[in-house]
Amino acid sequence: PAAAISTQDLAGRRVVITAGPTREALDPVRYLSNHSSGKMGYALAAACAARGAQVTLVSGPVALATPPGVARVDVLSACEMLAAVEAALPCELFIGCAAVADYRAASVAEHKLKKGDDTSGMTLELVRNPDIVATVAARSERPFCVGFAAETQALETHAGDKLSRKRLDLIVANDVSQAGLGFGSDDNAATLLWREADAVRRQALPPQPKTALATAILDHLVTRLP
Ligand code: CTP
Ligand code: CA
Repeated sequence: PAAAISTQDLAGRRVVITAGPTREALDPVRYLSNHSSGKMGYALAAACAARGAQVTLVSGPVALATPPGVARVDVLSACEMLAAVEAALPCELFIGCAAVADYRAASVAEHKLKKGDDTSGMTLELVRNPDIVATVAARSERPFCVGFAAETQALETHAGDKLSRKRLDLIVANDVSQAGLGFGSDDNAATLLWREADAVRRQALPPQPKTALATAILDHLVTRLP
C-alpha cells in the first residue's frame, strides 16, 4: 500500500477550530451541556495540521487526545469559547464545529442550589449565549467561515437558513436522527451547502468515519479558500 503522504495544501494557513460541547454552570456542582464528543472537530484539526496548517483548537470538555501539531486551548462555557476564539484571531479559516450551548443560566448560584420545600418543580432562568461562528463571520477582516448544522428534521432547509443567517461560506449539515451517525459516533454523513452565483449548491458526503469525512470537507474547501 502507498504510504500516506499528505498534501501540504494548507501550508502556512492559520486555522481556528471549535470542538466539543460547552458547559454552562448552574451552581458550583451542576451544569447544562450536551452529548457532543468532539470527534468531528478533533478529526478536522488533525487533518488541517497534517496538511500543513497552523491550527488552534478551542475545545470544550472532551475525552480526546490533542492531535499532533495542534495548539489546544481548553474552555468550558460558550462565553469562554468566544473569548478564546477572538484571542486566536486573525486566521484564514475558521471552522465552528462545537456544539455550543444556546443558553446559560441568567445567574450562576454562588452556593449549591437547594431543593427547598416546593415539591412541584422548579424553573431555571436562562439567557442566550453569543453565537460564536456568526460573531467571527461578522468581523470586517473575516476568515473563510465554516459552520455545522446538526438537525433531526428538514435538514437542508434549516442548514440553508443557518448558512445565510450566520453569513457562512460553507455549512456542513448532518442528520443526527440517523442511528449510529453523528453525536458520539465514530461515523457521520453530511451534506455540504454553500452559495455560488446566488444559488445554493450542495454536495452529499456518504456515511464514513469522521476522519475520512474531515478529509472530504477539507478537499472541498481548499478549492474555495481565497
Ligand atoms: N454556533 C456557535 N455559537 C452558538 C451556537 C451555534 O458558534 N452560540 C455554531 C455551531 O458551532 C455550528 C452552527 O453554529 O457551527 C450551528 O449550530 P446549531 O446549534 O445547529 O445552530 P443554532 O443557530 O444554534 O440553531 P438551533 O440550535 O436553534 O438549531
Ligand atoms: Ca444550537
